[in-house]
Amino acid sequence: MTLHRLCGTAEMADGEARRFDVGEHRIALVRLADEWYALGDRCSHADISLSEGEVLIEECALECWKHGSSFDLRTGEPQSLPATRPVPVYVLKVEHDEVKVELP
Ligand code: FES
Repeated sequence: MTLHRLCGTAEMADGEARRFDVGEHRIALVRLADEWYALGDRCSHADISLSEGEVLIEECALECWKHGSSFDLRTGEPQSLPATRPVPVYVLKVEHDEVKVELP
């Protein structure tokens, strides 16, 4: 496993989602207050970038803008149809004001 820097903690606002491409990994990074989450940035229903969707703060989820499935930021599991399969969840490390993702 190696750590790859995604951004500084001051670079993203509370409630924001942003896409990062690291090698072949397409990552949707989400900030909720002081919590950070990273999902695979490809909806499991079709090839849509989840980071272009809406962050659902109370549900701790990211909603796909295309057909409305939302994915739990903690587990990657879909919470609503039409998506039925989870998306990957990435492990993050936040240290020294930097957000890093663990990749194989
Ligand atoms: S493409 Fe995401 S729910 Fe259909």
